[in-house]
Amino acid sequence: MENLPNEIKRRRDLMKANWVELKDIKSDQQKSVEKPDVIKPYDNTNLIDLPEPDQNDLKIKNIDEVFQIRRSRRQFTDSKMSLTELSYLLHSTQRVQKTFKENIATLRPVPSAGARHPFETYLVILNVQDLDNGIYRYLPDVHKLIYLHTYEGLKEKMIKSVMDQKWAGETNVVFYWSCIPYRAEWRYSIKSHKAMLLDAGHICQNLYLAAESMKYGTCAIAAYDQELSDQLLKLDGEDEFTVYISPVGKQV
Ligand SMILES: Cc1cc2nc3c(=O)[nH]c(=O)nc-3n(C[C@H](O)[C@H](O)[C@H](O)COP(=O)(O)O)c2cc1C
Repeated sequence: MENLPNEIKRRRDLMKANWVELKDIKSDQQKSVEKPDVIKPYDNTNLIDLPEPDQNDLKIKNIDEVFQIRRSRRQFTDSKMSLTELSYLLHSTQRVQKTFKENIATLRPVPSAGARHPFETYLVILNVQDLDNGIYRYLPDVHKLIYLHTYEGLKEKMIKSVMDQKWAGETNVVFYWSCIPYRAEWRYSIKSHKAMLLDAGHICQNLYLAAESMKYGTCAIAAYDQELSDQLLKLDGEDEFTVYISPVGKQV
């Protein structure tokens, strides 16, 4: 890195609120530019139904108990995850609860600045009942999955994408959240980037709590290989790219 102190300053600045200095910058929304899709478009054929979540899967229902036992977990059993359990993890992280008029924004179980929810959920399925191993995308408006693709040596490729954190390969499913930044930039221009990173933390926290309540466990991953993760999901790396990863497995 040529000028590390400068780079540190630049990155610290990204962590600060810039609303006051930037109050005169007009966003695309203020310039009446057509709104972006609130969910990445998908082909309606071959969708995979998810069952509704089953309350019986929640082994710990007392929210304070869940807060007290939550940990980042990196050791798992090899039991299969059921589809209702997977359904609950998706339901509690990104499922659309309400769509505003003219599809301008959505509400979900987590907060998001301006209700932009600029994320998509991808799943690397490794050990889930009734699903072939492979890469899927979650469709949060209809609570369904769409199968995308798979690879020879899927698990090994996934492990490489998380910088050789091998414990991730012992899980049932690996959540990858991508960001489509324009969804938030359209409304907040260059004020949106700090907020998008804050938003991502909320999603992962809900995954932690939902997993704990079913005696599963997860561990957030920020130390991942950007290029390999985007390649794994076949994202362009510019208009959509990976921002956070969290593998989920059954607690030992
Ligand atoms: C943003 C973020 C990134 C993290 N990245 C990793 C990671 O790449 N690998 C890992 O093993 N743990 C990672 N962790 C887990 C932390 O190490 C863990 O939260 C911390 O040690 C505290 O433990 P606890 O979550 O059990 O309270 C990450 C946690 C957060 C919140």
